[in-house]
Amino acid sequence: MKKRDVLVLLGGVIILFILWMAPAETTKHIPQDETHQKFYSMIQKDGSAGKKAAEKFCQNCHNKDQVPFPAEHPPKFRCTFCHKLDK
Ligand code: HEC
Ligand code: HEC
Repeated sequence: MKKRDVLVLLGGVIILFILWMAPAETTKHIPQDETHQKFYSMIQKDGSAGKKAAEKFCQNCHNKDQVPFPAEHPPKFRCTFCHKLDK
């Protein structure tokens, strides 16, 4: 293989990698509604400490009896790691 072919191949792999990364960005944001407004305040005021504080409340409502998770929901270690604020 010529050096140029290797570079073209490498470019393709990088593009595929970026496409593969993309779906995480489409994860639903925390809705900016009355229910979630107080978490926006906490997170905007205290940054990552605010995130940790806010996450303690999520499962008061997001549990199988109230607002159930989709069946294929990934492990829920840190809600705000995947569910960002609406900007
Ligand atoms: C007081 C109850 C309550 C708490 C606490 C709560 N939620 Fe919710 N959440 C809801 C309800 C009800 C819905 C569905 C209706 C809506 O969109 O507001 C919802 C919807 C969502 C959705 C889906 C939005 C969509 O577009 O479908 C996400 C994501 C979410 N909440 C994340 C969180 C996170 C993260 C926390 C903790 C920081 C949290 N919620 C805390 C009640 C709550
Ligand atoms: C590892 C990433 C990740 C973490 C951590 C996580 N989620 Fe999710 N969540 C997802 C994905 C992916 C979906 C599938 C639908 C989507 O794209 O939003 C989802 C879906 C949801 C939905 C349903 C949205 C809808 O209406 O389709 C809610 C509500 C939700 N998550 C709440 C939470 C809460 C509350 C926590 C913390 C206890 C949490 N999630 C932690 C990735 C995550």
